Amino acid sequence: MTDTIHPVPEAAAADTRTTLAQYHDRYARSIADPDGFWREQLPRLDWLRTPTVMGNWSWDPVRIRWFEDGMLNAAANCLDRHDPAATAIVWEADAPGAPGRRISYGELLEDTCRMANALVALGVERGDRVTIYMPMIPEAAVAMLACARIGAVHSVVFGGFSAEAIAGRLEDADSRFVITADEGRRGGKTVPLKACVDEALDTHATAQVEAVLVVRHTGGKVAMHPDRDHWWHELRSQVPATCTPEPMNAEDPLFILYTSGSTGKPKGVLHTTAGYLLWANLTFETVFDYKAGELFWCTADVGWITGHSYIVYGPLSAGATILMFEGIPSYPASDRFWQVIEKHRVNIFYTAPTALRAVMRDGDAPVLKHDLSSLRLLGTVGEPINPEAWNWYDRVVGKGKLPIVDTWWQTETGGALITPLPGATPTKPGSATLPFYGVQPALVDAEGTIIPRADGEEISGNLVLLASWPGQARSLHGDHERFTQTYFTTYRGKYFTSDGARQDKDGYWWITGRVDDVINVSGHRMGTAEVESALVAHQDVAEAAVVGFPHDIKGQAIYAYVTLNAGIPASDALLAALRATVRHEIGGIAVPDHIHITPGLPKTRSGKIMRRILRKIAENDFASLGDTSTLADPSVVEALIEGRLNR
Ligand code: WTA
Repeated sequence: MTDTIHPVPEAAAADTRTTLAQYHDRYARSIADPDGFWREQLPRLDWLRTPTVMGNWSWDPVRIRWFEDGMLNAAANCLDRHDPAATAIVWEADAPGAPGRRISYGELLEDTCRMANALVALGVERGDRVTIYMPMIPEAAVAMLACARIGAVHSVVFGGFSAEAIAGRLEDADSRFVITADEGRRGGKTVPLKACVDEALDTHATAQVEAVLVVRHTGGKVAMHPDRDHWWHELRSQVPATCTPEPMNAEDPLFILYTSGSTGKPKGVLHTTAGYLLWANLTFETVFDYKAGELFWCTADVGWITGHSYIVYGPLSAGATILMFEGIPSYPASDRFWQVIEKHRVNIFYTAPTALRAVMRDGDAPVLKHDLSSLRLLGTVGEPINPEAWNWYDRVVGKGKLPIVDTWWQTETGGALITPLPGATPTKPGSATLPFYGVQPALVDAEGTIIPRADGEEISGNLVLLASWPGQARSLHGDHERFTQTYFTTYRGKYFTSDGARQDKDGYWWITGRVDDVINVSGHRMGTAEVESALVAHQDVAEAAVVGFPHDIKGQAIYAYVTLNAGIPASDALLAALRATVRHEIGGIAVPDHIHITPGLPKTRSGKIMRRILRKIAENDFASLGDTSTLADPSVVEALIEGRLNR
């Protein structure tokens, strides 16, 4: 295991908000005196009523509140208090030659107010859930902030999800309003967003959508249902340019974001207003050491939590200038990231390891042909970064001179929890290093006992958190019981992250990956059960079992074992049909890399599928299958191995 310590680069150490000694002091204080610590952070936000209560939470039973007597509005914090002339968003289109956009805070405020008024005109009320299905254009942020401004709860659905997936999320959120665009563009291709929304609404009578607000982006032709669909550019001029922000309680819901878990049904993770916003704001400024005037680029999509926290709420609440990119790293060529950084003089760049691995394949030349001298800081998120990718990022992109922040966190945590601070923390390639303020990680064994660690010792186990932090999710939409079950009952009274980790002799944290049935594909969470239920939706499939297996670029890829109904022969056409089914049920990101049609699955006598065996076979690791004698039919294993070898 690599354990090379990279000292804080000189330039970063010379010019930082936080030194290592200050980090240790502040961290110790945040644990010893959380009330005092958080009270000092309150001025980060503009409050309509300043809270007097800081954390007020219990994890058994689960009831989490922060700043509960405070009042504020998240959109006002992201817009109204900033210099209207300052640039909020620099937008780069999918195609390099296409015109970009620059939007000032004043313009963003006006657009947000107008969209907020348009939503009110369409019947949206405080507390209503509004589903947002958008490409990476500034109106995606406008839509989120417009909801926040009037106290509506947004539920952003990633633009790569299928109609079926939208319908499921609309239904679960009981959402009667949708904001979308005619089409999006990604990698030179057109993404038919409005058509996808139409399909979701037309095929699912249960989704009781009253109004769809459509942003014209590509100008492509779309069907408009006269009673239901409204063009944003038409409504925009009919509504006032100002909108008083709705006074919200700190614990009023801000948004729902669906994410995958161990069961077939995605969970609507619920974040509330003040705690989430304060966490996004504080971590943004501290982890990226953001300084006024700098250009910050987070390459995530707004459909994921990373986009929520580090494209919209963190940076905009801090008055930062963000770069928003419509496209993908490989289009038109694998130097696109570096071309965009050079063009706009990006200072801080935050991306996913999978994107780095994908462009690394083409060697150093595509990076070296661009002037990256504007860069001051690099970051990663979404999955463990392998030391090779870390070292390449450091050497080729950072020229060995820039701090790299490897930030570990989850949809449920709202923002970064384990991360270096750029001017303070010496780093080790592959380690997320040390906990952020207020965060108390620990490792537990299978029984839930905290594994003690003596100084200089290395330990490993399942990663739990011992105390709440303001950015923590409060519940799952409409299902608090499932929230409790999912996160707080495996190890009663502790928050279980579902990640495995180790803590090394220096106390540094290394996240080793999910220990539940979630696969991390290109930094995106995918539940094996979700993919399985998509596969069995095909009429010829009897049973499906899905596991992750290591993949050079994606980190993990999806391997599906499928048994067919009696008499159905395997064929290439059937494999294509199975892929199409998954694309239809969930979206392109869930399509398995391998589909292995097999006569049987390894099951115990009680009928439980032994996934351990399936994982090993997918990894071509036949030597360590472990004990197979408890299988109902041990000969299944030979058939599986034979099937694997013949691929
Ligand atoms: C993984 C993304 C290692 C982890 C913000 C977690 C990471 C899951 C890192 C959450 C990292 C995220 N190092 N693993 N720096 N960041 N993960 O909800 O397994 O999409 O549980 O949130 O991604 O994924 P999610």
